[in-house]
Amino acid sequence: MKSNAKWLYDETVQVGTDYQDISNVQAYDMQMAKFRDVTKEAADIIEAIGLRREHSLLEIGTGTGNFAIEAAKHCNNVYAIDVSSAMIAYAKQKAQKMGISNISYSQAGFLSYEHNGYPLDMIVSNIALHHLPDFWKMIALKRIYKLLKNDGTFYLGDVVFSFPIEEYDSKIDSWIETMKEKVGINFAQEAQMHIKEEYSTFDWIIEEMLHKSGFKFDIRHKDDFFAVYYCKKK
Ligand SMILES: C[S@@+](CC[C@H](N)C(=O)[O-])C[C@H]1O[C@@H](n2cnc3c(N)ncnc32)[C@H](O)[C@@H]1O
Repeated sequence: MKSNAKWLYDETVQVGTDYQDISNVQAYDMQMAKFRDVTKEAADIIEAIGLRREHSLLEIGTGTGNFAIEAAKHCNNVYAIDVSSAMIAYAKQKAQKMGISNISYSQAGFLSYEHNGYPLDMIVSNIALHHLPDFWKMIALKRIYKLLKNDGTFYLGDVVFSFPIEEYDSKIDSWIETMKEKVGINFAQEAQMHIKEEYSTFDWIIEEMLHKSGFKFDIRHKDDFFAVYYCKKK
């Protein structure tokens, strides 16, 4: 991709929650600890992808860095990227405190990351692709495909809409209500902003994009608002 093209999407501009703001970064980490068992989640992903010591793994949209830290305990080389320099600084500090030294952090994203080195064994991205509009999601998936070695694995989890479209009003309201009950009003407001300003799309669009990028994939999880795809480069 021409990195200086005038029409290139600027992925550094924050969409939805501003993750360049350190208070939002800290709040995100605290909210996630309430809402998710991030360590178990990471262990499940590591098991699902069959991560081994000799593998190289890239995480795109690492956020506060929990998955990359767990992955670094299982393989020699982890690359963790995020467009937010505040997220990268926070994640790096967390890893340092834990004595983890085999993660290379860089401020880069789906559309801008350049990998220097051998093609990657594994790429993981969780709750980040929806930051791109659909056209750019497709470009991102094609770039991910190219970064992987043959038979490499791409694990994608994201907020994806699979509910019947006729029910969108009630489904979205109850999703936001659940966030309020489980995590609190601030997170419910973020969920509202997600719907209003971010670019989550339909399951059938994501799945067609994965096909068109060249991946073979299984759907590992799908509910009304979240989907997980285990993809292989063939
Ligand atoms: C909702 S957080 C998810 C963080 C983490 N993966 C998790 O599971 O908690 C989304 C992250 O994606 C990052 N992000 C947004 N656009 C991105 C892009 N184009 N490329 C890479 N990361 C991006 C944000 O800065 C933020 O850290």
